Amino acid sequence: MDSKVVERGALENEKETPQEQEQEQVVNPWEVAAKDGGKIDYDKLIDKFGCQRLDPSFIDRVERLTSRRAHVFLRRGVFFAHRDFNEILNAYERGEKFYLYTGRGPSSEALHLGHLIPFMFTQYLQEAFKVPLVIQLTDDEKFLWKNLTVEESRRLARENAKDIIACGFDIRRTFIFSDFDYVGGAFYRNMVEISKRVTCNQVVGIFGFIGEDHIGKYSFPPVQAAPSFPSSFPHLFSGKDNLRCLIPCAIDQDPYFRMTRDVAPRIGYHKPALIESLFFPALQGETGKMSASDPNSAIYVTDSEKVIKNKINKYAFSGGQDSIEKHRQLGANLEVDIPIKYLSFFLEDDAELEHTKKEYGSGRMLTGEVKQRLIEVLTKLVERHRRARAAVTDEMVDAFMAVRPLPNMFN
Ligand code: TRP
Repeated sequence: MDSKVVERGALENEKETPQEQEQEQVVNPWEVAAKDGGKIDYDKLIDKFGCQRLDPSFIDRVERLTSRRAHVFLRRGVFFAHRDFNEILNAYERGEKFYLYTGRGPSSEALHLGHLIPFMFTQYLQEAFKVPLVIQLTDDEKFLWKNLTVEESRRLARENAKDIIACGFDIRRTFIFSDFDYVGGAFYRNMVEISKRVTCNQVVGIFGFIGEDHIGKYSFPPVQAAPSFPSSFPHLFSGKDNLRCLIPCAIDQDPYFRMTRDVAPRIGYHKPALIESLFFPALQGETGKMSASDPNSAIYVTDSEKVIKNKINKYAFSGGQDSIEKHRQLGANLEVDIPIKYLSFFLEDDAELEHTKKEYGSGRMLTGEVKQRLIEVLTKLVERHRRARAAVTDEMVDAFMAVRPLPNMFN
């Protein structure tokens, strides 16, 4: 350990020395990089973070409790890790409800498919469990981390809210808020309760901040932690301090909630539970998550059919062989094939997916055919999103963001 000593034992996780980190994959809320340009090692990540694998028994259990088929993202292991999800289900089985919390840092105008994943899944959870949901837009976070003005971050938050609403959230059970607008009152009081219980050494250990970082970074984590506690929303959960919180998110957000879970019992709340997803791979291959700085690494919800077609045909990394003869003989390497990866996220039909994998893996199907099917699936998805978003008015954004009670949120 170097001189920046982390208080060991105080948190669920321990930090490695910079030397150890150099050769290792890096996953934190701001950076996702695999080791030596390879794949993200999710088993190692689970180990390092100290969360649990979501084993298949959860799928049956969720199906039983909600009386409906589990979401594709659950069936296919897109959401693959958790913390205390079993506790949420135990409580639900006893007749206790919970609330959902997720969020987005509004750093760009257009969302790509990877951004939609947690929202699509959260929408399913809301509908299946019939529970309220709070969505945090961390315009403050993006102001602090990116080269954006306060005004620009606020504008992006509202723009992104439209894409989020287009995912189909139920206005009777959903409260969307921007930090710049909502932080204050009970929310702020919780932030301060949290801040008092996290040391500098701890945030350095969890997030890797350094002495030269501005103090805005050090002070932000309690802002993302506070929505995990029901008392941050007195218009929704007044008198329900015992209500449990479930957070669907990509696994890079885990550090924030490790910190939150450490503090929770010390200020009288349940630890928030988490259900965590893989990263959606870049078109060029599975070496991390998609990069906002390279528009050809991702499919955006604003891409036209022509652009989608071109990106997939030109950039989607193929596990097929270089010649047809060789392909027929050896088949495709499905492990590295991006069209198959993308289809496994977005092709609903389990039987068709299995069939495609079998045919393509054995060489009977060619890359071009698989890409063609992917183009159809994604074009349909993006088109549906585009139409839904176009129907979201400014008044609807105001309505979702209004600080108001939700009288039927548990029914
Ligand atoms: N920090 C997240 C981002 O940059 C936004 C966020 C805030 C979030 N609260 C969350 C994401 C809760 C998942 C769950 O995108």
